[in-house]
Amino acid sequence: MEVIIVPDPEKAALLTARILAKELRARPDLVLGLATGRTMERVYAYLAAFHHQEGLDFSRCQTFNLDEYIGIPATHPGSYRHYMDEHLFSCVNIQPGNTHLPDGAAADLAGECRRYEALIREVGGIDIQLLGLGADGHIGFNEPLSALLSRTREKALTPATLAQNAAMFGGDPAQVPRRAITMGVGTILDCRRVLLLATGMAKGSILAQAVEGPITAMITASALQLHPRCQVVVDEEASTHLQGQEYYRWIFDNEPEWAEFRDLDALDPRAGLP
Ligand code: GLP
Repeated sequence: MEVIIVPDPEKAALLTARILAKELRARPDLVLGLATGRTMERVYAYLAAFHHQEGLDFSRCQTFNLDEYIGIPATHPGSYRHYMDEHLFSCVNIQPGNTHLPDGAAADLAGECRRYEALIREVGGIDIQLLGLGADGHIGFNEPLSALLSRTREKALTPATLAQNAAMFGGDPAQVPRRAITMGVGTILDCRRVLLLATGMAKGSILAQAVEGPITAMITASALQLHPRCQVVVDEEASTHLQGQEYYRWIFDNEPEWAEFRDLDALDPRAGLP
């Protein structure tokens, strides 16, 4: 695992988007794993800007989202399909048929979970998976005590998650669907590369537990310590509780892999951001 600390949420989104864009340029038929949540909105705004200003090409790319609510149609403004269409898919040249999310409105939910896993396998697995961090330390919707070897399945959401995600449901946690389909922790660990993005003071404590604490099913993000290629991008605020800050900064300043990403101002296409 590597931790990269940048000054603010905007720079964290920019760096994350630049890492994804580099992967996509190197491999135009990339299989990209996507996440939702407020933190990701700026990442998608940057990807859209790279598409418009630099010709970043999504035409051969396939995407798989981590999760989707159960019991609301894709057209519902709170659905993750709606979120993805709004923040990314409608802003770039991706083929709609190449964008995949679990179908939370499927009649046979267990069958839908199996179908989703099979589809990921069929395309050869996910090359790079983007992850946010839940208030309770979840990745995807893998709530506390999710098996660390779990696969795509139905999960009940915790009160902390309902509260965190209420904004898209009129601010009322009671309106948030109680269940979701999510890739399992095992599904996520199978991805070839994993990129976790967390920003803001509110994520600081749970982030430190996930990165530096013991691996535990109570904090499913802690399972990422097992992944051979996992990078965690955080802003100063989210890094507050990390013990190893000085070491993480030293690595970022010295590893040749990061040389092209160090001058964040030079990577910024700000003029064209929506
Ligand atoms: C939801 C998603 C998670 C995401 C989290 C972060 O719970 N299922 O995958 O990590 O939101 O949300 P935010 O970025 O709004 O804090």
